[in-house]
Parts: sequence; C-alpha cells; structure tokens
Amino acid sequence: MVIDGKIGPRWRNFSVSRDTLRAAMTDSKTHTRQIWMDGKFVPWDQAQVHLLSHSMQRASLIFDYLLILETERGPAIFRMEAHLQRLFRSAELVGLPLAMGMDELVSGVLETVRRNPGATNIKICAYLPSIELEVVPTDSRVSVAVAAFDPALDMGDSDKPAAGRAQTLRLYIEKEKRRTQPRFIPPQAKVSANYLSPMLAKWRAREKGYDDILLLDDDGNLTEAPTCNVFLVDQEGVLRTPSTKFVLEGVTRSGLIEVAKRDGIPVREERISVDEIFEAREVFLSTTSQGVWPVESIDGKKVGGPDAACPGPVSLALRERFKKVERGEDPEFVHWLTFVDEES
Ligand SMILES: Cc1ncc(COP(=O)(O)O)c(C=O)c1O
Repeated sequence: MVIDGKIGPRWRNFSVSRDTLRAAMTDSKTHTRQIWMDGKFVPWDQAQVHLLSHSMQRASLIFDYLLILETERGPAIFRMEAHLQRLFRSAELVGLPLAMGMDELVSGVLETVRRNPGATNIKICAYLPSIELEVVPTDSRVSVAVAAFDPALDMGDSDKPAAGRAQTLRLYIEKEKRRTQPRFIPPQAKVSANYLSPMLAKWRAREKGYDDILLLDDDGNLTEAPTCNVFLVDQEGVLRTPSTKFVLEGVTRSGLIEVAKRDGIPVREERISVDEIFEAREVFLSTTSQGVWPVESIDGKKVGGPDAACPGPVSLALRERFKKVERGEDPEFVHWLTFVDEES
C-alpha cells in the first residue's frame, strides 16, 4: 500500500510503502530510530536503563508527550514551549534536580526530530538512572532522554486491539479509586507514580466493556480521565471543564479554551458534580494524541439523551477547528508551531 493523502496529513510527504516502513521499523536488527540520551544519540534497541534504577523501582520518572505534524514547511512540533515548561514544572513538583536548561533541551528535541524522519510523536523522559535501594536516592543525578517515533510503526500500535482508539467513547465513572489529591503527589506532575491507580481502574473498566474512565476527587466531583482532560457543554451552551486544582494542566485543554474563547464560546473552569455531567448536552475528552475525543455514553447512559448525535455540534466544530490550528492552517495560532527545518 502506497502512502497517500487518505491516511492523513502527517503522511503526505512519504513515498515509501507503509508496509515496507513497518517491516524495517519493527525488525529490531533494522530499526533505524535513534534516541537522544543526555546529549548523545543511541540506537533504539540500546536506549536502556538498569532494572534496579531508582526510576524503574520507585516510579520517579517524569515525562511529556508531544505531537509532530507534517506541514508544507516540513515537520512542525505543536506547542513545544508549553510542553517543555510543563516538564520543568513536573521536575520541580517531584523534586527531580534537572541539570539541563531549556535551551539544551530544545536543541535536543529538534535534533531528535531531524534524525527520525516520519516520526509523529515525541516522548521526553527525565529519570534517576542510578542503581538504588534507598527510597531517597543517594545519587540524585537526573538523565534526560528524547525519543521521536510513530506509535503505529515503531510500537506496532496499529496491530494491537482497538480498545481505547474508538472514534467515540463509552466512559465509566470510577466509583472506588480517586484521582491523586494535591496533598499526595500533585496531579499537575506528569510522573509515572501518578498513573497506577488510574491504570488499575481503567483496566477493570475495560474488562466491563468501557473504553475509558472518569476519576473523581475526594468530594466526589469530576477531575479527569487517566490520560485526558474532560469537557462538557451544558444546556446553556457553556463549555465547562474542572479547574486545574485537581487535574493535569493539559496542553490541549488550555489550547481548546483559548480557541473556544476566540470563537465566542463561553468557557468556565470550575467544580463540576457527577450529576452535572449526566445533564450535559455534549461531553468530550481532550489529549495531545486525539485532540477533541467525543464521548457517546457514561455508565451506559447516552450523553445528551437517547436521540442526541455524537459528536454533538460544539464538539464537532471545535475538533475540526483545532485540527486546523494543529496543522498551522490558522494564521492566528501559527505561533504554536515550531517548524523544525527553520530552527537553527
Ligand atoms: C493525567 C493526564 N491528564 C490530561 C492529559 C492531557 O494532556 P495533554 O493535552 O497535554 O496531552 C494527560 C496527557 O497525557 C494526562 O496524562
């Protein structure tokens, strides 16, 4: 199959067959990706950390996940600055002393994208590589790694079961596990340790046939999904999302809020009860990998009533608008893209 425009904008500039690329990428002997580790490039298969390292044993790794889009001006990274700032904030919140500054990280990210053509995503990790028994690391040196890849080609994502990649979502409101509260690990930190309760809860929900879950705070109000923020459109047409007190400050979340306000859609960031989500006209999740992700039902009840369309009109309009923004097709938001080939 030859890659063409039908597969999506990210693939337009590629003339090799997807099957050929897949075969090359997934065979470990010919895998061509290179990962940046503390300033040096290492082959994909050799990007390793010891089993007994602190981050592996204590879930102390922080990370961020970015989108690369193929544009007429070459590959572009969406909202790089916002993501990198969040990574530095995560480090601060969990006390990881990053030795690297913003400029060094930016050049590492740009160089990694250049070395890995066809990549659609970037994952940056900062972690404690030292072999440790202590919970407080005796060696607090932090390593930083940057990988640029395509999940479908490099991780075989397109061969995995479709759960979680549905076009519209069936959500379950988690009744037992709560989102981490600020007095434990701050929810604003993108740190591995924060994902264990959500993982367990989502796993159980998947077994019951749901795609994803919504987590509540200690008072029973909505927070977010394990890897997405949540929005609703209420009966008055107001776009509402929980405040950032109990959720990760999603880059898609803040982008959507800005774009919606620009388009005259009223937006409120505030406490939202479970009852209010059942009264909503529309609900969607937001995340870097999916943009606006419409929700069709919650706990088996159809969002917006039995005859409501999914996606609803606001979700659909925002989704299409945001895709244009991501592709750099909206002059007002083109400054959110970093064009890799134009940077020094
Ligand atoms: C806990 C959590 N909330 C929300 C999000 C969405 O954030 P973003 O829009 O920056 O991808 C993520 C992303 O992975 C996440 O892990």
